[in-house]
Amino acid sequence: KNIVYFDEIDSTNNRAKELGEKDGAHGTLFVADRQVAGKGRRGRVWESPKGISIYMTILLRPDLIPTKAPMLTLVMAQSVAEGIREVTGMETGIKWPNDIVMNKKKVCGILTEMSTEIDYINYVVIGVGINVNQKAFDEELKEKATSLMIETGASVKRSALIAAVMKHFEKNYALFMENGDLSGLQESYNEMLVNRGKEVRILEPGNEYNAHAYGINETGELIVRTQKGEEKHIFAGEVSVR
Ligand code: BTN
Repeated sequence: KNIVYFDEIDSTNNRAKELGEKDGAHGTLFVADRQVAGKGRRGRVWESPKGISIYMTILLRPDLIPTKAPMLTLVMAQSVAEGIREVTGMETGIKWPNDIVMNKKKVCGILTEMSTEIDYINYVVIGVGINVNQKAFDEELKEKATSLMIETGASVKRSALIAAVMKHFEKNYALFMENGDLSGLQESYNEMLVNRGKEVRILEPGNEYNAHAYGINETGELIVRTQKGEEKHIFAGEVSVR
């Protein structure tokens, strides 16, 4: 398997995109011990201290129409949850579409970036940050973030967790490509979905409302019912859910 390791890098997503622009092969995994410019979603910084966490990005060149690419993020979220379960024996939840949480706090974030033409994908990079062996978080983050060490009380071997996540991703990716959608993964994804059966607040650009969430459909949209009784399909991207 093709794995590229860095002691220090700006961001594994940036490196994967650089290779995506060149001849980087489908399936190459970029792993770093530390990032000096780790990126989160919505332009946020992803704290990336040395030696205690997982920072990795996979480069993919899937033969898919570009509109299906966002579903890959959900495939990865599920694979991370399964990898954590395999290595630690602990259950995690998925907060739609792709945060992994334990005790309502975030233990993993995923950042997908891509380069597409109208009718094909040039490449997709899926970046995964898992909080593994942090003993504590500073004031600013401790309400919202947790680590596997904090939740399980034991340190976790990062290489074993990377291997487990990638093993599950390989299986889930194959199933996704075979079906052309998330139908083979929908049930297990929904079982881990913390929003399922709950009231959620939908934040669309210029519009906010409460709704009852049911789960994802085969394309990864969140099915909700608004207070007016209207069923809506929420597409990840512009929308955020609380
Ligand atoms: C989020 O905001 O929830 C997404 C966080 C994604 C962090 C990972 S760490 C590895 C990869 N490289 C980055 O710069 N970001 C992602």
